[in-house]
Amino acid sequence: MYEILVLLAQAFWLIAPAYAANAFPPLLKGKMPIDCGKSLNGNRILGDGKTIEGTIGGIIFGVLVGSLQILGYNYIPKELGLGAMTLPLALLLSAGAISGDIIGSFLKRRLHIESGRPLFPVDQLDFLLFSLLLASLITSINVWVAVVLVIFTPLIHKIANIIGYFIGVKKNPW
Ligand code: CTP
Ligand code: MG
Repeated sequence: MYEILVLLAQAFWLIAPAYAANAFPPLLKGKMPIDCGKSLNGNRILGDGKTIEGTIGGIIFGVLVGSLQILGYNYIPKELGLGAMTLPLALLLSAGAISGDIIGSFLKRRLHIESGRPLFPVDQLDFLLFSLLLASLITSINVWVAVVLVIFTPLIHKIANIIGYFIGVKKNPW
């Protein structure tokens, strides 16, 4: 039981900047679409849901959360075995999350799925997988940490989106 709690702590500690980067853009209500409104074969390249403001703001917010983790690291019990957060790691996690989400949108548009319409499990896992992929360039990621995140992230994503819908920052509860 204790081992599972430690594993959960390690997993969420590692992924915090990515979650932060992914959660922040809806709050910004950005207006400048990355694809400049352009289409590809009749479908938007990315859509109005991927903006320059959201992209930059998400990465900055992810790095900010990572910075707080760097500052707080010494106050966390060593027994938990949390990995040290660093600025490059926070940046890769955040940029990976934001770019994974953008790649997911690109894929959805190619499948003729409109902006804001759901596609399971792409919406839930695109940001996570790209975040882990980029982070793995500079740190080794425990396979069980990755497994925990793949299992728990869709659930957390669902809860966060329902909350986001009710507080009025997300147009749909998914
Ligand atoms: N957002 C943004 N820039 C990004 C990512 C997200 O501005 N790079 C904002 C947009 O306001 C978007 C909201 O966050 O509507 C929610 O993001 P998400 O659910 O990923 O986008 P969707 O609107 O569902 O669009 P898509 O179908 O392309 O995923
Ligand atoms: Mg998405």
